[in-house]
Amino acid sequence: ETQSSKTPLAIRLCAPRGFCAGVDRAIQIVDLALEKYGRPVYVRHEIVHNKYVVDGLRDKGAVFVEELDEIPPSDRDRPVIFSAHGVPKSVPADAQERQMFYLDATCPLVSKVHKEAEIHFRRGREILLIGHAGHPEVIGTMGQLPDDTVTLIETEDDARAFQRQTDQPLAYITQTTLSVDDTAGIVSVLKDRFPDIVAPHKEDICYATTNRQEAVKEVAPTVEAMVVVGAPNSSNSQRLREVAERAGCRVSVLIQRASDINWPDFDGIGSLGLTAGASAPETLVEEIIDAFADRFDVAVETVRTAEETISFNLPRELRDMTGPTQ
Ligand code: F3S
Repeated sequence: ETQSSKTPLAIRLCAPRGFCAGVDRAIQIVDLALEKYGRPVYVRHEIVHNKYVVDGLRDKGAVFVEELDEIPPSDRDRPVIFSAHGVPKSVPADAQERQMFYLDATCPLVSKVHKEAEIHFRRGREILLIGHAGHPEVIGTMGQLPDDTVTLIETEDDARAFQRQTDQPLAYITQTTLSVDDTAGIVSVLKDRFPDIVAPHKEDICYATTNRQEAVKEVAPTVEAMVVVGAPNSSNSQRLREVAERAGCRVSVLIQRASDINWPDFDGIGSLGLTAGASAPETLVEEIIDAFADRFDVAVETVRTAEETISFNLPRELRDMTGPTQ
């Protein structure tokens, strides 16, 4: 039988999508630590913002805590891993004080921003951080320096209202997972007001964030709806949903699993874009394609706007482990 009673649906898969090198490395660090040190291995904060990933690691023996003081004293000899988003300086200091052994899964591209902050500070510059209040990466980056050293700028209005605290030269750094377009707007306000403001040598918004937004920009104008696979607390995933919405997708939703799909949203559509945030595993993208294939006669096509080959070294302690476990 070649006839189908289902409505045709063209799915355009954005590429690159899903796991970035920093997420891949962070998950590998937890896997390898479990293999090398046995269970339990503690992880401070969700290693990456994805429930499926976190649940999978929990099943293997990872224990997730928000702060180190949740770790029972009897388990102080167990390793603790810091999440990919980075941590304030106080956290490794606290681990050392508790004589705990820690592994740092902070993405090297976040660590790069931490180093920029320190360099600006040492050179006596007043520092602005463009980012979202409350995100763990922002807390971690601000926590590289003494309290009240860094001013957070969230919007163009913030950039217009900002009053310098000192007469030192200004510098700005950014969160790695921001909207490329919104950030350009904020930076342009800052540069208008403070032409001498020192900018990052190379964009702080990471390659993975930039590439995923580019792919969505390419696909969004050609489809009626966009599905972004990712968690509501995932900054880069939220930004992908906004990019599709601004590009004119009537429906643009961020969902974690196929069971989150609100089917009436997709009634009568003929084309769908699909992408995934940097912390969402490909298996969840497949699950969502399958769910659409149950209801539509789907044809899947990949739209690739960039190749990614970047990968990061593991922490020294895990480098002698032979091969990844997946
Ligand atoms: Fe790193 Fe960018 Fe991924 S900062 S964790 S490569 S989203």
